[in-house]
Amino acid sequence: MERFEKQILSGLNQILDSPITTKDLEIPSDPNLGDFAFPCFHLAKRQKKNPAQIAKDLAENLKTLIPGSIEISTLGAYLNFKIKPHEAISSILASILEEDGLGHYGELTQNTRNTWVIEYSSPNIMKAFLISHLRSTALGAALSRIGRFRGFQVISINHLGDWGTQFGKLAIAIKLYGQHLPAKPTIHDLVNLYVRFHKEAEKDPTLEDQAREAFLKLEQDDPEITAFWKQCVETATCDFKKIYEKLSVHFDYYWGESFYKHLLTPMLESLKRKKLLIESEGAWIVPLTDEFGKDLTPCILQKKDGATIYATRDVAAAIYRYEKLRFHRMSYIVGTDQKLHFQQVFSVLKKIGHTWASNCEHIPFGMYRFKDAKMSTRQGNFVTFEEVLKLTQGKVKELMEQRTLQITFNENEKEEVSEQIALGALVFFDLRADPIKDIDFDLDRVTDFEGETGPYLQYAHTRCHSILRKAKESAPNKIGDKIYDNICFDPSLVLLLSQKEEILLIKVLGRFPLHLERALEFSKASQLANYLIDITKAFGAFYRECHVLGQEPRLTQARLILVEATRRILARGLSLLGIPLPKKM
Ligand code: ARG
Repeated sequence: MERFEKQILSGLNQILDSPITTKDLEIPSDPNLGDFAFPCFHLAKRQKKNPAQIAKDLAENLKTLIPGSIEISTLGAYLNFKIKPHEAISSILASILEEDGLGHYGELTQNTRNTWVIEYSSPNIMKAFLISHLRSTALGAALSRIGRFRGFQVISINHLGDWGTQFGKLAIAIKLYGQHLPAKPTIHDLVNLYVRFHKEAEKDPTLEDQAREAFLKLEQDDPEITAFWKQCVETATCDFKKIYEKLSVHFDYYWGESFYKHLLTPMLESLKRKKLLIESEGAWIVPLTDEFGKDLTPCILQKKDGATIYATRDVAAAIYRYEKLRFHRMSYIVGTDQKLHFQQVFSVLKKIGHTWASNCEHIPFGMYRFKDAKMSTRQGNFVTFEEVLKLTQGKVKELMEQRTLQITFNENEKEEVSEQIALGALVFFDLRADPIKDIDFDLDRVTDFEGETGPYLQYAHTRCHSILRKAKESAPNKIGDKIYDNICFDPSLVLLLSQKEEILLIKVLGRFPLHLERALEFSKASQLANYLIDITKAFGAFYRECHVLGQEPRLTQARLILVEATRRILARGLSLLGIPLPKKM
């Protein structure tokens, strides 16, 4: 389908005065309406003309510029393009099945495109891995995987929150109330003490001063507090890594905030010399204006007591990363509540003269809201990922028990599969939503095996498998092995696929690369997640209307080719989103 898309773009670009790209071509969710659509509203506004008329004129002019395999029509303000079925079918199925069973359709050669730094997850050592960190982690990891698959040189960074006054607070808390701490405290032990500190500090404000002093000592490399800090970071990182393993998430660099600590003083000195950093009420700030010249809240880089802050580390981190990695794009996947922070950081970088700062972007996301009363009353959305996972897995087990009519699981399998399904359910629910909106967590909806959910997609994938397996079992031995073990493209067979549902499914499958590219352009994994739902719908219709097994052998074979193509795209799409594939469900 990418070939057709290129032809359409090239045709349009020969006529239009300002160039358009992939982003400007829509993909109607129902292929019956067309394979691509070009809305003419923008043009109409610019040219002050009727959009429907523009669409008509464009259609007329395009006729000679676009190959005959693409039909052009108009519907109101839309210019629609439809690829003639016989052109589409062979080329799509051939490319999906061309390679071995891994599903490389839509893959571009590794590292042939720009360097893209994606920073995501970045939990705070003192706050455990919260459900809000799942948002950043799921989206960041999905964009990284899709980016790599599409040829970008993706570099992923975990900016752990491992520096700051909180360590001063914890050190004081341990000194004052840590007598009963086990020799090897867990992260939860530490978090509890940290919480206790805050309670006590409400009664005794001098505790805050003590904590600040302790942090200052840490910044000055005091050996005792440094050793203590190191231990906290190791304990927490070890816990985080267990979660990452479950989620199949990996980072090229764990460069936490502390990683940049030795760059801070030289940076501050240099900014002071250049008079970019000015003194204000004892603190050091960079005065800022936004892109329209309006005043923006100034960015503090050094506090009155000489300590650095979160923003200081972010400015130093960005400069370091650029020097080391020479990225073309750097994305920070962080909650919407930090919008101002990133505006400030990027503005400071620009003010220093780093033109590459305009290639830095904040990809924001909304919060989780819980219906469940127990969770929603929790202060500051303080719900950990692990408790949500446990809750979800429990529900999945219940559902599995109700469903296991044909399939039996032993205890180990049940544990493994229920975790895979629960993870798939959570990750999919998260990614399917528009990242910018808040998420209403509803356990029944998350785990609904029949709804538009992760489990439903996982199930569609196992169903493709089981059809292929059954085909193999029912076929006469020799031929069976040959045909069904390694299903390959056969041009004469696929010509038999001419039913409405078959053609629709093939066309939907062919859209895979288009959606991947759009997911990257819009920084939205939901583009891929929703597309996978479209596949399962088209597959469902195909399976209802077109029986696969027990048909005239060549027709069965042709349909098996289609089942295998569906299986490959689903498997690849789910893996790119980070959704595990259970063997049976
Ligand atoms: N640790 C922060 C948090 O959990 C997120 C870090 C975001 N990244 C950054 N470069 N500031 O809220």
